[in-house]
Amino acid sequence: MTNTLITGANKGLGFAAARRLIAAGHNVWIGARDPERGQAAATALGARFVPLDVTDDASVGGAAELVREKVGRLDVLINNAGINAGGSVPGTDMTFEDFRAVFDVNVFGVVRVTHAFLPLLRASEAPSVINVSSGLGSFHQMTETEWGKWVVPAYSASKSALTMLTIQYANALPGIRFNAVDPGWTPTDTNGNTGPQTVEEGTDAVVRLAAMGVGAPTATFTDRRGTVPW
Ligand SMILES: NC(=O)c1ccc[n+]([C@@H]2O[C@H](COP(=O)([O-])OP(=O)(O)OC[C@H]3O[C@@H](n4cnc5c(N)ncnc54)[C@H](OP(=O)(O)O)[C@@H]3O)[C@@H](O)[C@H]2O)c1
Repeated sequence: MTNTLITGANKGLGFAAARRLIAAGHNVWIGARDPERGQAAATALGARFVPLDVTDDASVGGAAELVREKVGRLDVLINNAGINAGGSVPGTDMTFEDFRAVFDVNVFGVVRVTHAFLPLLRASEAPSVINVSSGLGSFHQMTETEWGKWVVPAYSASKSALTMLTIQYANALPGIRFNAVDPGWTPTDTNGNTGPQTVEEGTDAVVRLAAMGVGAPTATFTDRRGTVPW
């Protein structure tokens, strides 16, 4: 059975992806920073809960130890946890602390979790890491389309960094597939529940990649329709 961990899966797209991957036969671990909400989500889904705050080294290390102890390997890691702190603040008013908080989750959190789980990924026959990035981190989208009017500097820059990090990991670790996905604009708490897609559509790209196993590509950036321009 495919062992899959999804960070920030107590709600939103992570929760929806967990539901779909369980239906597809994965043994899904729900990572969440709040134990009560995480356990409640896991119980509702029939998943396993692992306490996991991506900004906390001890928490991330404890999560890796728990998964190692219970199942000994990880096949699919979905780095989904993300924030847009200061999202309603005009770009020029964002403080260093706003930037630091966003990068700590969206970029450094992914580094923390990926490093902690590398031994477990290496124990898999078809390890795959999927980083949930955003079209708001696409240089093409922000310069050549109507999305360019969105001013979300910390979030946007963090997602550009995450997409590049995905490519760098793919280059550095050819034995593990690393791919970035853009869910597309989907109603969740992170955007005040706005957006034209269903959560199913918002999880199509991540679910498709998670299901690919050994056939998965590496170093790609896709959404539900296909390739996202860098
Ligand atoms: N919705 C969209 O339109 C859209 C578009 C493009 C990309 N994305 C990306 O999709 C991913 C999922 O977001 P979403 O839309 O589902 O938003 P969401 O409903 O707000 O979910 C975000 C999840 O991340 C968790 N999280 C935040 N900080 C964390 C931390 N330090 N440690 C562990 N978990 C943490 C949250 O936990 P708490 O409940 O404890 O806060 C929550 O479970 C994010 O990376 C987001 O940037 C979303």
